[in-house]
Amino acid sequence: MTNHHAATHLKTVIVTGGAGGGIGGGISTVLAEAGWNTVIVDIDRDAGRSLSEQLNRRGLSAAFLEADVTHPGCAEQAVAFAASKFAGPCALVNSAGIGLVKDIAEVSDEDYRRVFSVNIDAPYRFSRAVVRAMPPSGGAIVNIGSVHASATCPGYTVYAATKGAIDSFTRALAADCGPRAIRVNCIHPGLVPSPQNRDLIGRFAPSVDAWLAAYTLQKQLLANLPSPRQVGELVRFFLSDAASAITGQSVTIDGGTSAMLYERLMTTSTIGDRNG
Ligand SMILES: NC(=O)c1ccc[n+]([C@@H]2O[C@H](COP(=O)([O-])OP(=O)(O)OC[C@H]3O[C@@H](n4cnc5c(N)ncnc54)[C@H](O)[C@@H]3O)[C@@H](O)[C@H]2O)c1
Repeated sequence: MTNHHAATHLKTVIVTGGAGGGIGGGISTVLAEAGWNTVIVDIDRDAGRSLSEQLNRRGLSAAFLEADVTHPGCAEQAVAFAASKFAGPCALVNSAGIGLVKDIAEVSDEDYRRVFSVNIDAPYRFSRAVVRAMPPSGGAIVNIGSVHASATCPGYTVYAATKGAIDSFTRALAADCGPRAIRVNCIHPGLVPSPQNRDLIGRFAPSVDAWLAAYTLQKQLLANLPSPRQVGELVRFFLSDAASAITGQSVTIDGGTSAMLYERLMTTSTIGDRNG
């Protein structure tokens, strides 16, 4: 059920991958709570229906479009869907993304194409469609990158390349869109305990929770992993008028991981470590 009554005065945002149990769902939930008409575009029918119904039951304005963002025409379909449910979108969050951890020698052309088509082709097409449909008053786009855009580890050649690409795409799109009053920014999350990540960690670690606790202790400056909702809060800020002077920027949310040289305990052991 869609809250058509509220739709007349609220702004509309499209969130790709917005049904995800990790960052995508965190973004959709925070934006709907902040009063956005939130259009969730996701390939996962059960998750999309369940989240949009849950938000509607709370009196929030959300609608779900089941779609594969890699299909040509999907972006235009999403814009038309948003307009039919609410009003044309003035905001977009490109969050749908997939991972791949494989040595380059093992990567197939299909692997490569699949990750690029979700992580880069789709943000390109969705941004283009939303820019074409934006009202003259402008709007805002947020891309979800990754800390792998700037520093990475073995097995990430394809994923890291897509996240580096979205970082530079953000700046270039901001350059095209500035005169149209459309702002474009990028968020680079560190490790967020999404279902996708828990599955991945579970493939090599006997206990996912123990692995995450050790990671936090050694690889972050702060004691808590970033949560999907915290990424959502940053998206909410970038889409708000409070950010009206910010465009072409990338912000990292990683508990301090990327600010650190070596592992935290290498130095804290000599000066005492409150968490250790
Ligand atoms: N979780 C992390 O630690 C982390 C870290 C850095 C960056 N990111 C990025 O954040 C974004 C969200 O990641 P997450 O791990 O939190 O996942 P998530 O829980 O938000 O799930 C991703 C969603 O994308 C949807 N999706 C995947 N392919 C799709 C397609 N072809 N069409 C439509 N929907 C599709 C999935 O159905 C799922 O609902 C991704 O871009 C990811 O690369 C995640």
